[in-house]
Amino acid sequence: MLLVTGGCGFIGSAFILQWLAQSSEPLLNLDLITYAGNPHNLDSVATHPGYHFVHGDIGDSALVAGLLAQHRPRAIVHFAAESHVDRSSAGPLAFVQTNVVGTLKLLEAACAYQGSLPAQQAAAFRFINVSTDEVYGSLEPGDPPFTELHRYQPNSPYSASKAGADHLVRAWHHTYGLPTISTHCSNNYGPRQFPEKLIPLVIHKALGGLPLPVYGDGLQVRDWLHVDDHCAALRAVLEKGQPGQTYNIGGRSERTNLTVVRTVCATLDELRPLPGGRKYAEQISHVTDRKGHDRRYAIDDRKISSELGWSPRVAFEQGMRDTVAWYLDNPQWVQGVTTGSYRQWLTQQYGTA
Ligand SMILES: NC(=O)c1ccc[n+]([C@@H]2O[C@H](COP(=O)([O-])OP(=O)(O)OC[C@H]3O[C@@H](n4cnc5c(N)ncnc54)[C@H](O)[C@@H]3O)[C@@H](O)[C@H]2O)c1
Repeated sequence: MLLVTGGCGFIGSAFILQWLAQSSEPLLNLDLITYAGNPHNLDSVATHPGYHFVHGDIGDSALVAGLLAQHRPRAIVHFAAESHVDRSSAGPLAFVQTNVVGTLKLLEAACAYQGSLPAQQAAAFRFINVSTDEVYGSLEPGDPPFTELHRYQPNSPYSASKAGADHLVRAWHHTYGLPTISTHCSNNYGPRQFPEKLIPLVIHKALGGLPLPVYGDGLQVRDWLHVDDHCAALRAVLEKGQPGQTYNIGGRSERTNLTVVRTVCATLDELRPLPGGRKYAEQISHVTDRKGHDRRYAIDDRKISSELGWSPRVAFEQGMRDTVAWYLDNPQWVQGVTTGSYRQWLTQQYGTA
């Protein structure tokens, strides 16, 4: 089986849903259910015989050691993290605690477990570290996209903490022989993303008639990767990736933030038109830029494409349309998240919030 960490978050839940739809191999999800973890993302598989959930912290070494000994996974796919850049500038310590110290504890537990396995299983074991393109820093408009050899130059407390985790993962491969692989993906989008991130935030505010905040001039460029494409890439890495290697994963869809916001608005104009011919884009409001805002990220995905045969399938315009439609079709999910009522799950399950 697989051990997935942070599987109640945006990407982890998409990975679990895709995995259980396409594989008969069971999966254990270890998630602390922070504000960003939403167990309702996995309601559709809650009773699936292959799905197991444990509420807990990746930094709880005794818990993780016990889970590894009991379930004997063939791999760990590590998503759990503090993931929001704005929160990292307001409160960096939690990012170091979860992303750096939490990953270190997980590596230690994984290493002890892998070392206890018979030689063949130990060699086949994988620790997949889901990292970000943000560790590479910012590009100028004409610069070539990030390759796996690009030097690390993290600019936010978030990306610095992810970079710290990446270095530990690399060290655990080189020093202890743990078969680790790190992946660096671009901005993910798709269903079930917490509405503090750009696309669901804009949809939510647009429908509420609120200003649509765009940082600075809105000309920051990001590559956009549909979450299902990302999960398919991770499955390819798990099956065919080489230990000690890193792989960049992108959507081949560089867009400015302003273009993304305008695309969301145009899609809403079509799917949920405003009365009187008004346009959602009229709600766009430029706000003071984020501190230290990186200007451009772009991914060179030739390595994963040529070595593992993966390439993105979802075209940005179609993916965006499907994503906007999903949020329109799932108002109860959005309401549960924005009112905070999704947090009641913890109280119901464990008597604590
Ligand atoms: N979302 C993106 O666009 C993006 C881009 C690049 C990389 N990533 C990386 O992908 C991974 C997943 O991102 P996401 O957007 O799904 O994040 P998310 O914030 O939606 O989910 C994070 C999950 O981790 C859980 N978690 C946090 N601390 C934990 C702990 N100590 N122990 C166990 N669980 C814990 C949370 O409860 C939540 O379910 C992260 O490592 C992130 O850095 C995300």
